Amino acid sequence: MNVLRTKSIEQSLEDTDDPEFKLKKKLTALDLTVFGIGVVIGAGIFTLTGQVAAQYAGPGVVFSFAIAAICCGLAAICYAEFASTVPVAGSAYTFSYATLGELVAWIIGWDLILELMLGASVVAQGWSTYLVTFLDEIGITWPSSIGPADSANYEWGHVNLAAVILILVLTALIAVGIKESLRVNLFLVAIKLFIVLFVIVAGLFYVSGANYDPFIPPAADPVQASGLTQPLIQWVFGIEPQTFGVLGIISAASVVFFAYIGFDVVATTAEEARNPQKDLPKGILGSLAICTVLYMAVALVITGMVPYNEIDPSAALASAFTSVGKDGFATMIAAGAVAGLTTVVMTLIIGAVRVLFAMARDGLLPRAFAHTNPKTGTPVRITLTIGATVAVIAGFTPIDKLEEMVNIGTLTAFLLVSLAIPILRRTRPELERPFRVPFSPYVPVLAALVCFYLMLNLSIETWLRFLVWMALGFAIYFFYGHSHSRVRLAEKESASV
Ligand code: ALA
Repeated sequence: MNVLRTKSIEQSLEDTDDPEFKLKKKLTALDLTVFGIGVVIGAGIFTLTGQVAAQYAGPGVVFSFAIAAICCGLAAICYAEFASTVPVAGSAYTFSYATLGELVAWIIGWDLILELMLGASVVAQGWSTYLVTFLDEIGITWPSSIGPADSANYEWGHVNLAAVILILVLTALIAVGIKESLRVNLFLVAIKLFIVLFVIVAGLFYVSGANYDPFIPPAADPVQASGLTQPLIQWVFGIEPQTFGVLGIISAASVVFFAYIGFDVVATTAEEARNPQKDLPKGILGSLAICTVLYMAVALVITGMVPYNEIDPSAALASAFTSVGKDGFATMIAAGAVAGLTTVVMTLIIGAVRVLFAMARDGLLPRAFAHTNPKTGTPVRITLTIGATVAVIAGFTPIDKLEEMVNIGTLTAFLLVSLAIPILRRTRPELERPFRVPFSPYVPVLAALVCFYLMLNLSIETWLRFLVWMALGFAIYFFYGHSHSRVRLAEKESASV
C-alpha cells in the first residue's frame, strides 16, 4: 500500500484547468488582504484581549500578542513560499500532497477542515452573544431559549437560533459566488476596521498611566490544573502553567494565538487569485502585519483604560467604554463586533469549502461532490454540506470547550507546512519560487518547533479529542480515499499500458 505517493505540482496546476472543476480567477492582492483581515480580526480582538490581560498577563499582554505574531509570522512566510510555488486551491493540503505524500496531505486536509468548521462554529456562537448584547442595549430582548448558551447552562435540545440563521444566510451567499461574497466582506471589514481604529483613537483619551503600573504584574501561583484539563507539557515534563510575570506572558501567547488564526485561509483561495505568485504572499503577510499592529494597539489602550484586574473578560472593548461613562460608544462597538464577527464566520466557511473541494477533486472523497455549478462557478454541493454541518454544530452544541481544538488543528497544519519547505527545496530545486523563505532550513525548523511548543501547552483533553478526529479521518482514508485517489488510478492506468 503506497501512502507516500505524491501528486506532482504540474498535475495540481493542470487540474485547475479542467472546466468541470474550474474556479474563476477574479481576486486581486487587495481582495486577498481584505479577505485575510476579514478572517483574522474577530473573537480574538473583541474578547480574548480582555480575558488574557485579566487572567494571565496584565498590560504585558501586548508582549503576548507580539510573541504570537512572531510565531505566526514564521509560519506565514512558509505559507507564502508554498502558495507562490503551488498556487492551487486547498492550501496546506495541496502543498503537502506535492511534497510529503498522500497520507500526510490527507491528515493536513482533515485537520484543516476541523480548524475551519469548528472555528466558524465557535465564532458564530460568539457573534450571537454580541448580537444579543447589542439588541439588549437598544431595548430589544432576544429570548434566551433560542439564544447563546455555554456548557455551564446548556440543556439538551437547546437551539442557538441566531447562530443558525447567520450561517444559513452566509452559506447561501457563498454558494452564489465568491466575488459577490467578497463584496459583502469588503463592506463588513471596513466597518470592523473603523470600530477597531475608533477603539484605539477614542480610547487614548481615557488612558491613565497608573493602569500601566506594574506593566508586567508579579508572577502568581501556578494555575491549578489536573487530570485531563492539564496541559500536555505539565503531564509530560511537570511544567505548571503560570499566570502573570514573564511566564504568564508566554502562557498568554499560546491563548491569543487564536486571534491570529485565519491568515492561512488566504492560501485556500490561491486558485481564484489573478496573479497568485505575487499576490498571495502580499495577502498573507500584509493581513498578518496589519492585524499585529492593531492588536498591539488595542491591547495597550484597553489595559490603559481599565486596571487589568477589573477588565471584563467577555466583552472587554465595549465594557471599557461603559466603565468610563461612554455607553453610546459601547453600543456602537457591540454593533461593530456583530459586523466584524460575521466576516470571520464567512471566511472560515469559504476556507473549509475550498479544502474539501480540493480533496474531493483528487478523489480522496467522492468526486461528484466537487463539481462546480456552471452558473455560479462555485462548488455548490460542498458549500451546502459544509454550511449545514457548521449550522448544526453552532446551533445545537455548547462548544466553548472546543475552542482549543481549533488551535490544535491549525498548529498541526503550520508544523507540517513548515517542515515541507526544506523537503520541497531538496526534491524540486528547479521550481520557480517567486517568494522564498530566508535562511531555510533554519527558519522553517524554528517555525515547526515553536508550533510544537504551543501545541504542548494545550490540554490533554484537547489532544484526546484531536486523536479521535484523526482516527475517524484515517478510517475514511483507508476505506475510501486510498483506493479512489486519482493519483493512484493514474498510476494504475500507466502501469497497464
Ligand atoms: N482569528 C479569528 C478570531 O479571532 C479566528 O476570531
